[in-house]
Amino acid sequence: MNERQRRRRLVVGNWKMNGSRAANAGLLKGITDLWSGHANVDAAICPPFVYLEQASEALAQSPVALGAQTVNEHDAGAYTGEIAGSMLKDLGCRYVIVGHNERRRMQSETDAQVADKFHAAQQAGLTPILCVGESEQERESGHALETIGRQLSTVVNRVGLQAFDKAVVAYEPVWAVGTGKTATPEQAEEVHRFLRAELGTVGGDVQILYGGSVKPGNAKQLFALPDIDGALLGGASLSADDFVAICKAAIE
Ligand code: PGA
Repeated sequence: MNERQRRRRLVVGNWKMNGSRAANAGLLKGITDLWSGHANVDAAICPPFVYLEQASEALAQSPVALGAQTVNEHDAGAYTGEIAGSMLKDLGCRYVIVGHNERRRMQSETDAQVADKFHAAQQAGLTPILCVGESEQERESGHALETIGRQLSTVVNRVGLQAFDKAVVAYEPVWAVGTGKTATPEQAEEVHRFLRAELGTVGGDVQILYGGSVKPGNAKQLFALPDIDGALLGGASLSADDFVAICKAAIE
């Protein structure tokens, strides 16, 4: 079995700040009705914090795992409004997204803070999904790999390479998130290959996802690339049909 075959596929839906109890009930039912799991494909959804319990109950008999959209870097204490990794674990989360570009930009999360969140997630027994990616300007000026390399190495320096054994990396070019633009297969594959090389000895085993306007119509082409192990979805994860179609596209 080669490295590619050893790595399971993973499709993660990031609901962002969307949903209501009623809308979630329909979406969760759609997902559980349509996806019964696959030997080589894992699926997960990341609802807003306040709906984690609702999702956890709805997914109890389902192979779809639960994740959160961010986590605080501290264990507990006077951090009003924040959520600790142990709380996410308590609610049944397996994954947590760290360093999503919307949080880096809108909440001013720094590379160092993202590294602390990655560490805190692992300490709590969660699998971090570390997002990295360049802005449009960084790509156009030829600095994409420099930015991505810096975002990754800040975490590697904090936790060590071996910690990536139990982590997922997601490449999300900022200019492709929520815009309808997708990186070309060549652009995506180049970055994924770079990330794998930067991860050295563990690189061959780390699941590296692509994110940014992935839809049922382009998923198969992206998943055919040798270094793309799945997808981090935003918009498409709000439709059960689209989410499950992309999970099915991940079946080889
Ligand atoms: P999108 O979002 O699929 O809506 O582009 C991706 C993400 O932010 O993870």
